[in-house]
Formats: sequence, C-alpha cells, structure tokens
Amino acid sequence: MLRIIKKQKKLKVKIMSQNSYIAVEPSPALQGTVELVGAKNAVLVIIASLLLTKGKSRLTNVPASDDVLQMIKLMQSLGAEIFFYPNEHLLEVDTSQVTKWQVSADIMKKMRASILVMGPLLARFGKADIAAPGGCVIGTRPIDYHLKNFKKMGALIEESADYLTARADLLHAQRIVLEYPSVGATENVLMAATLTHGVTTIVNAAIEPEVLDLIMVLRKMGAKITVEAPATISIEGVISLQPIEHAIIPDRLEAGALLLAAAITGGSIYLPQAQAYSMDVFLLKLEEMGHEIIVGPQGIGITLKAIKEPRAVSFKTAPYPGFPTDLQAPMMAALCLAQGTSIVEETVFENRLLHVRELQKMGAQIKVEHNKAFITGVDKLYGASVIATDIRASCALVLAGMAAEGSTVMTGIHHWTRGYDGLENKLMALGAHVTVYAGQDDAAVVFAQPDTLNIAPAPRN
Ligand code: EPZ
Repeated sequence: MLRIIKKQKKLKVKIMSQNSYIAVEPSPALQGTVELVGAKNAVLVIIASLLLTKGKSRLTNVPASDDVLQMIKLMQSLGAEIFFYPNEHLLEVDTSQVTKWQVSADIMKKMRASILVMGPLLARFGKADIAAPGGCVIGTRPIDYHLKNFKKMGALIEESADYLTARADLLHAQRIVLEYPSVGATENVLMAATLTHGVTTIVNAAIEPEVLDLIMVLRKMGAKITVEAPATISIEGVISLQPIEHAIIPDRLEAGALLLAAAITGGSIYLPQAQAYSMDVFLLKLEEMGHEIIVGPQGIGITLKAIKEPRAVSFKTAPYPGFPTDLQAPMMAALCLAQGTSIVEETVFENRLLHVRELQKMGAQIKVEHNKAFITGVDKLYGASVIATDIRASCALVLAGMAAEGSTVMTGIHHWTRGYDGLENKLMALGAHVTVYAGQDDAAVVFAQPDTLNIAPAPRN
C-alpha cells in the first residue's frame, strides 16, 4: 500500500515508451569527475530480501531506474508500505503489513528479477505463487536451478505453462550444488536458507559483488552466513531477522559504462566511489588497450586517461571474477574503433550479441560465429538509426554514437531507463551530446513524497 499524506509533494517519475528515443551527437573528449549511484543488481535482490523481516528498513544510494520502480511496485502489491525519495536515493520499506505471496503475470513479465521474491516468500509464508518469468532476448533464461533446489529443500512445486505454486510447511537445510554459479539461484536459495533450521551449504555459488552486498545485508538482519573459497556459502538458519539500514554498493556496471565513455571519446574521467577490486579483469582489458588506469588507495576510486589509438584486445565473458557479461556490449563498442582485430566470446547468455547488427549499421566491421564476435577496428563510425535490444546493448549504442560522425537516433530506450538512473545527465555533464526525447504517451508514476520539511526530513548521509 502506498501511503498518501495530505501535505505531500507529488513527484512524477516518467516511464519511457516506444515513442521515446535518445539522440546522440558526436561528442568531444569527455572530461571530469562523476558520482556513482547504487548497483541495480544489488538493490533489486536486497529489496526482495526485506520480505524476510517484519518492520521498517532504510536503504540509501538507491538508483531510481525503472527496474527499481518495478520492484517497488511488486513489494507494494504484496502489502509493503514504501516511501521513495528518488532525488536523495533513499528508500524506506515497511514489511510489517505484508500479507500476500502471489506475484502477478503483469509484474513478472515486466522484470525477470521478480523471481527473487520466491525464496523470501517461501521462508516467510511457506508459500509462493509466481507467474512463470519466461525468457528474454538475451537467452531462454530458465529457472530450473532455483526450482530444483527449492524442491531439494522440501518445497512442493507445481508448474503450469504460465504459473508456479510453491508450498513448504517446513524447508530443510541441505547441501546444494549448483552446476553453474547462477546469480539468481544462489541469491534465492541463500535468502530461503536464512530462516531454515540447520546449516545449508551452497557449493559453486555465485560470488558477484552484488551477491556479497546481499550477504552483508542479511548478516545485518541477524543471519549467520560464511563464505569460503572456492565459492562455497554456508548459512545457519535463525528464528527471525530484523529490519536494517544499508547503503547499496556503487554500480560497477555504471562505472564501466562511464570509463568506456571516456575511453571511446579519447578523454579522461575520475570515479571517486568506484571499487576497482570488483572490476579487475575489465580494468586489465582497458590497460591492454593502452588506456592509463589509476586506482585509489585500498582500490577505491578509478581514473582513466584514454590513449589516442587504442589496441584491440580479446576476452570471453564469465561468472565473477571473470569479465562481466553486462559490460560485454559496451566494451565491444569501444573495440569497434581499436587498432586490429578483437575476439569477444559471450559464454554466459546464449543470445547476447544482438547489438552487433546495430553497430554494423554504424559502420562497424564485425563477424559473428556462434557466440563469438570478430571485431576489426575501423577509423570511423557513422551516426545511424539504431534499436536497443536490452539494457547493456542500449549503453553500447549510446557510446558508439558519441564517437561516431553524424547523428545517432536510438529507439527502444525503455531498456536504457530500466538499467540506468540518469546516466545521460552524467554523460552530458562530462561534455557529451546525449538527449532523451520522451514520446507523447509516456506513462507517469506518482510517488507520495512527504514534504521533507514537515513530515520526515530525508536524512543526509
Ligand atoms: C543476473 O541475472 C543479473 N540480473 C544479470 O544482469 C547478469 O547478466 C547475470 O546475473 C549474470 O551476471 C540481476 O541480478 C537482476 P544467472 P540472472 O542466473 O540471475 C543460466 C543486466 O543487464 N541459468 O547467473 O538471471 C541462465 O540462462 C542483467 O543487468 C539456468 O540455466 O543470471 C544464464 O545462461 C542481465 N538455469 C546463466 O545461467 C537457472 O535456473 C547465468 O544466469 C538459472 C540460470
């Protein structure tokens, strides 16, 4: 339930529609310092984890991207009371009145990450009714690892073409072996295990920084969790978990996009909050291209000074700490203008090279064989009308547009706003020419934002 307070200021948050587009003009060498917002892929699962508690939690550094708004809507549909201060990146979530365990198809189809409430709902209610998530353009994205392991923990799961019902009077602690270190399956089982009596062990778990941020939150709630090499997480169940306060980790994927924006325009950039030690392989590849990378004390803060003629490099994507699949497309945009031939192999998702044909429209020389792309650097890219097919592809096309001759018009920008919170403004502040044009029939979501002076002043961190 969204609480409406009389003396409120209504804050409109636009949701982009098909008529919207981003126009990108050739941009000068970007220069400057940029603040990072919190990680989308950490905050989504952390919001879901609040269902494990009964009370008011406060999250800071929360991005106002559309996926976050969608997760807020999901939580409200279950009965949570929510205050969101997008300008302050502050989110207050009260889960004491959560009474529902059904997630509608309408919500599920908008965002696959909705599946991440399954573990918490099973732990809280012993029930979870979830519309089947279905695939997306980057792959079939089955959830068999999630379901198989909930069944191993004792859940009875009925699957129909478009709906899942899960029931568990009591979940049982188990030794869970993941055949692939799936981020979502690790997170879902981990959350369910926190309130399951006994010790659950997850072997070959995902250890992405976003998973570790979730573990940090669960520990703050009172969970007993240890992480040991190689990638083994042990959870000793507890009776109850408490609401928390937490600042979401900076978004390494936003950091990667900004570093590449400086690299592709031949500029220089400083990201004071960036956590270099969560981006090692990516930074290594930027250095191999010839860009100068300076890392701050304890790995906090990254400066990139671009080289004029970057070299081609090759990489394959892999689970953390390998090269992140979510930076594959943006990196490919930069490699389109590098000296020589780069080979990029996408191993995490089976259909995540759709941005290639859009980059080819801009004059890129790329050949694809199965999940490998062979990119032969060219001297110039040319502006064109291109279509974003997923979140990270949208970033690649905006970066390419900044380095291209002539104008680029990108449609499908709901992907951009799903994954990024005002990244276009940060790029413009660095000197880029990137403009969002909102189409006529854009929907608007109204958030009750108490008048901070009168009701609840937003705390300054
Ligand atoms: C998370 O997706 C991220 N999303 C993705 O980011 C990211 O690309 C991905 O992890 C890999 O890092 C969020 O955190 C919300 P997986 P997730 O389970 O959890 C297969 C972005 O752009 N698999 O690690 O769905 C799956 O099909 C998004 O921000 C199964 O086969 O990823 C894929 O090929 C895109 N069965 C591989 O494992 C399962 O039950 C990795 O998927 C689960 C996964």
